[in-house]
Amino acid sequence: MILDGKKIKDEIINRLRQEIKNYKDKPTLCVIQIGNDEASNIYISQKEKMCNVVGYNFVYKKFNTTVSENEILNTIDDLNNDKNINAILVQLPIPSRLNSKIIQNKINPLKDVDGLCDKNISNLITKKDGLFPCTASGIITLLEKYNIKIEGKDIVIIGRSMLVGTPLFYMLENKNATVTLAHSKTKNLAEKTKNADIIVCAVGHKNLITKNMIKENAIVIDVGINKDNNKICGDVNFDEIKDKASYITPVPGGIGPMTIATLAENILKAYKIQKNID
Ligand code: GUN
Repeated sequence: MILDGKKIKDEIINRLRQEIKNYKDKPTLCVIQIGNDEASNIYISQKEKMCNVVGYNFVYKKFNTTVSENEILNTIDDLNNDKNINAILVQLPIPSRLNSKIIQNKINPLKDVDGLCDKNISNLITKKDGLFPCTASGIITLLEKYNIKIEGKDIVIIGRSMLVGTPLFYMLENKNATVTLAHSKTKNLAEKTKNADIIVCAVGHKNLITKNMIKENAIVIDVGINKDNNKICGDVNFDEIKDKASYITPVPGGIGPMTIATLAENILKAYKIQKNID
């Protein structure tokens, strides 16, 4: 069965669009882009479109790659102090010359809708409320919308990025799964995936997961976004696996839309915390 992220995204976006009709000033997202990465341009336009559909304001600040770290930090300072800005996101990747950790930690944790500052990471690990990375949260939401039980499951995550694998490890462990976090140095990956009830692949290598690497009726979550002769594909050999897996996410139309839907949720959560709503 296909896990239809696009359909679930539309449901979430519609719910949020209704809810914000109750608020007279609209939540505002500011996206900071440094450079002109082609994929980032697409992701940012998807975020802008989502804001337009839900009814959020969208502010866009673009810098060229020569910008100084201080200029970015000062911009974030201004946005932190601006009551009309509720959510701040620095689109990744940024030039390696800049220290992404220092930049992410400059964002007020209450406006950090990417959940990448140390305060929000610590909130996740210590099981406190906070803002958490959108893709990882979106995976949990998708599983829950399809009533897929997480507790007690053996789950293998491949890829340990701070946007997906690492936060997802804590989220799933928090829901009482037994989680293995595999990465590029992991030995005998297939042995691990073959025993997994749920496999999440977030690496960015097409065809990394093949039919012989999964058990019958496994649940397969594909976070990869790769290009194959101008076609978008994930990390999973979808055609080969779709009949062996009990549930599988397509690419596109699976986790990508869930990331956008969760960003929309995080923006409203940030806004409500700042306005003392609920
Ligand atoms: N680049 C790719 N995915 C993301 C994301 O979720 N947030 C940010 N800030 N940059 C990204």
